Amino acid sequence: MQIYLDYSATTPCHPDVITAMSRIWQEQWGNPSSLHEWGQRAATVLEQARMQVADLIHAPAESIIFTSGGTEANNLALMGVARTFAQPQHLIISSIEHSAITEPARLLEQQGWQVTRLPVDSQGHVSPIALENSLRNNTVLVSVIYGQSEVGTLQSIQSLGPIVQDRGILFHTDAVQVAGRLPIDVQTLPVDLLSLSSHKLYGPQGAGALYVRPGTALIPLLLGGGQEQGLRSGTPAVPIIAGFGLAAEIAAAEMGSEYLRLIQMRDRMFSQLRDSPYLLPTGDLDQRLPHHLSFCLHPDVPAEVTGKTLVRQMNLAGIAISAGSACHSGKLEPSRVLKAMGYSNQQALSGIRLTLGRYTTPADIDWTMTVLTQILHRLIPQSAAIA
Ligand SMILES: Cc1ncc(COP(=O)(O)O)c(C=O)c1O
Repeated sequence: MQIYLDYSATTPCHPDVITAMSRIWQEQWGNPSSLHEWGQRAATVLEQARMQVADLIHAPAESIIFTSGGTEANNLALMGVARTFAQPQHLIISSIEHSAITEPARLLEQQGWQVTRLPVDSQGHVSPIALENSLRNNTVLVSVIYGQSEVGTLQSIQSLGPIVQDRGILFHTDAVQVAGRLPIDVQTLPVDLLSLSSHKLYGPQGAGALYVRPGTALIPLLLGGGQEQGLRSGTPAVPIIAGFGLAAEIAAAEMGSEYLRLIQMRDRMFSQLRDSPYLLPTGDLDQRLPHHLSFCLHPDVPAEVTGKTLVRQMNLAGIAISAGSACHSGKLEPSRVLKAMGYSNQQALSGIRLTLGRYTTPADIDWTMTVLTQILHRLIPQSAAIA
């Protein structure tokens, strides 16, 4: 039995998306910038995808800039805003951002920008007061992740956004893990920039988008033919983007029923694994991505057992989960997200994440809990378990 529980890493393409992309590759392969029939047919496909992605977040079509993925959307948001300033300014990010935010922020810091990394509480929430207190006269952009990929916590964008926007400062959120799983309405969500990724919502890898609220100034990262309203030059990957568009439309249509199915399975698993003497849930259990479970090991568990150990053992049993900690040059690094939430180095090495999706069944959940419990019993001496 093979069970995939890593839907936050990537999702399989929806079969209808594969069929549609294959048809476009065969029939609508023109360059959308060309004025002839072939080009115009491809341009129509591209604009339909733009409307489908826009509809998912209730945005006007012209506010969607297609990119190669969530990473590029995040880079375009940070670096694109930064480039509009002749002199380095002040940027605020949270301390639990994806590396596609932390790395551009680090580069800006090297270029003379002041960067504040906002602390979070033990559940991964940014405090509105801390955000307010960290604003400076020269703060030009704040970026806070919407749904944290490693610990599942949903940030209260509704309460953070106005603190920033009321001062005329731009607010960006990385909504890559949220889009397609929870409703997003940029008409009411207080953000100026929002990142999306196709392959997290059953579309193909290699496409994403940045929502840019009309009137928001950005200077592009890629210069060339001026595609995507001059913000992202390069011939767009029309079949891939069309797949993204269809996936967004399907996600919007299925979100209501899929959401309920996922939270039921998620909460059943949480309530059963909560009794485990070895596992401690991480992140906020209520304000949480609907498909997301994450744990770290109890501090009494021997340090040799890490998240990576569990991922390997689960993989041998045919179940795909992921570990929170990253492996750099063969050395296992504690998760910086768990560290920011106050966990010790040992616990920050022990994080695991199980993320459910369209093909997850209640039987998968039952079997996964049985296997995980058996593996933990086998790896951890009884004396290490708390009562
Ligand atoms: C929260 C978050 N932001 C950004 C990304 C990067 O997206 P992409 O893989 O489309 O570049 C990911 C992917 O794991 C993510 O989880």
